[in-house]
Amino acid sequence: MEDTPGVNEQKESSRMKVFLVMAGMAMAILAAVLAFSKVDSAYAIDQTGCLSCHSNYKMTKANGQGQQVSLYVAEEALQASAHRYIDCTTCHTTKPHEVPTPLTKLSLAQKCGSCHDYQFQVHRESVHGQQLLRGNLDVATCVDCHSPTGNPHSVIRVLEAQAPAYKKNQAQTCGKCHGNEELMSRYGIVEKVYESYMRSFHGKATRLGSSDLSKLDKASCINCHGTHDIKSVSDPVARVAGLENLARTCESCHPGAGMEFAKGFPGHEEASPKHLPAVYYVGRFFVWLTAGVLAFGAMMVTLELTRLIPINIKVKPRKKARPREK
Ligand code: HEC
Ligand code: HEC
Ligand code: HEC
Ligand code: HEC
Ligand code: HEC
Ligand code: HEC
Ligand code: HEC
Repeated sequence: MEDTPGVNEQKESSRMKVFLVMAGMAMAILAAVLAFSKVDSAYAIDQTGCLSCHSNYKMTKANGQGQQVSLYVAEEALQASAHRYIDCTTCHTTKPHEVPTPLTKLSLAQKCGSCHDYQFQVHRESVHGQQLLRGNLDVATCVDCHSPTGNPHSVIRVLEAQAPAYKKNQAQTCGKCHGNEELMSRYGIVEKVYESYMRSFHGKATRLGSSDLSKLDKASCINCHGTHDIKSVSDPVARVAGLENLARTCESCHPGAGMEFAKGFPGHEEASPKHLPAVYYVGRFFVWLTAGVLAFGAMMVTLELTRLIPINIKVKPRKKARPREK
């Protein structure tokens, strides 16, 4: 009876010891896991020492099209990329110098496609991909839309806010080429698609609005043209070809929009007396109206000033003329 408290104390302390040992073991395991995963991620991208040579930024090589390509691989860029946990040899094999690597826009797409087969197959059938197969260097390959530097080692995940493919940045990404008048005129594309989009409701709202994905619900280029499956606008299967397809495209976000709604869409073409004369003349009318109102205002101010000046001049001579003595 008397020693009960002592026994209880003993029980308490032994329980405490067990608890401490368990907690200690758990901490040790956690620390080991953390340390291991840290080591693992640090070495995942270069387990075979490729960077001992390829961290030299002076290394270059002539590619299959006679251009000098840098063989420098920026480790920090790769560490920040979507592929940060993938080892060099997973993409390049353990004998990278023994396989033919032409280092062209097409061979690059094919290498990305060795893992992302679906995107590669779809892109190959697109207006960009078809030209790529013909060796055209002007069109978009994977890294033009996925890497801020166009380098295969700096691909950014599409949901990261700084990704070229992130919704808020998509227009700028397409605009790199489609905002280049000289490049576009070579393909007979004379409409200023980037500028007109940025002027449109969708473009303005996307640019000025929040970067929060849930609020980025306005149409960007890809909502009307597709992503990997972009077609020429004259291709009957294009999402913007013909009123019926266009209406269906609007309806994906404007339920029940219908053909009349789509008909009102001015496209990218600037209004002119021939194309959308009503829009053109209303626009002109407002330009003249604004100019007229400004001119009228300026005239009123000028008149007011000219009215004030003579009064001030007149006041002085009157004072002088006043007879002072008597
Ligand atoms: C001893 C230095 C050295 C090491 C280590 C090295 N490379 Fe290279 N690498 C080169 C040189 C030099 C070239 C250019 C070869 C040429 O001009 O044909 C090159 C070219 C390349 C190319 C371009 C394609 C080609 O064959 O020319 C790739 C891709 C490449 N290396 C990947 C790797 C990978 C991946 C590793 C690691 C598994 C690696 N390299 C390790 C020196 C090295
Ligand atoms: C997720 C896949 C992937 C990983 C990981 C990767 N590369 Fe590459 N690398 C590519 C692709 C794609 C190309 C373009 C190939 C082409 O143009 O034919 C490329 C090209 C290269 C080139 C040629 C120069 C250039 O920039 O086009 C070198 C050198 C190279 N890689 C080295 C490395 C080294 C070293 C590592 C590891 C530190 C590495 N790569 C990791 C996909 C990868
Ligand atoms: C013209 C620009 C463009 C080109 C070229 C392009 N992509 Fe994309 N890609 C995008 C955009 C934009 C998204 C995001 C799609 C979205 O938000 O719905 C995307 C998404 C992706 C995704 C995420 C999954 C998915 O399908 O949404 C992968 C993977 C991908 N692309 C790989 C590739 C590969 C590989 C290539 C080359 C064969 C390629 N992309 C060429 C613009 C492009
Ligand atoms: C060895 C296979 C492999 C190669 C080659 C490869 N990728 Fe990937 N890629 C992956 C894997 C795996 C992921 C997913 C990584 C993750 O989620 O952590 C990924 C992720 C991506 C993403 C992000 C997808 C998203 O949902 O945000 C894009 C974009 C992408 N890759 C594009 C490319 C491009 C462009 C190339 C060529 C330069 C390429 N990949 C080459 C395996 C590869
Ligand atoms: C690296 C440059 C480049 C980028 C980036 C690019 N494009 Fe293109 N695109 C071109 C070129 C060049 C053509 C002309 C190809 C032709 O007519 O054969 C073209 C053609 C097109 C066409 C067909 C035009 C027609 O004549 O009907 C559409 C639509 C298009 N691109 C939309 C986009 C969209 C949307 C994006 C962004 C998601 C984009 N492009 C990104 C270079 C680019
Ligand atoms: C990706 C989704 C999306 C697509 C596709 C889309 N829109 Fe919109 N659009 C929106 C959102 C969101 C708003 C703003 C909400 C609102 O006012 O209804 C908007 C607003 C508008 C507005 C101005 C505001 C209004 O309601 O009058 C017009 C005009 C418009 N869209 C026309 C079109 C036309 C025409 C098409 C097809 C060629 C189209 N949109 C395709 C998402 C989209
Ligand atoms: C609301 C839908 C919509 C959006 C958003 C949109 N487009 Fe278009 N785009 C069209 C339609 C419809 C056409 C065909 C009529 C025309 O040419 O104006 C077209 C035509 C084009 C053409 C072919 C022009 C020519 O002269 O042959 C290109 C290239 C293009 N768009 C690129 C883009 C790019 C890049 C963006 C984003 C900056 C974009 N589009 C945004 C609907 C859209």
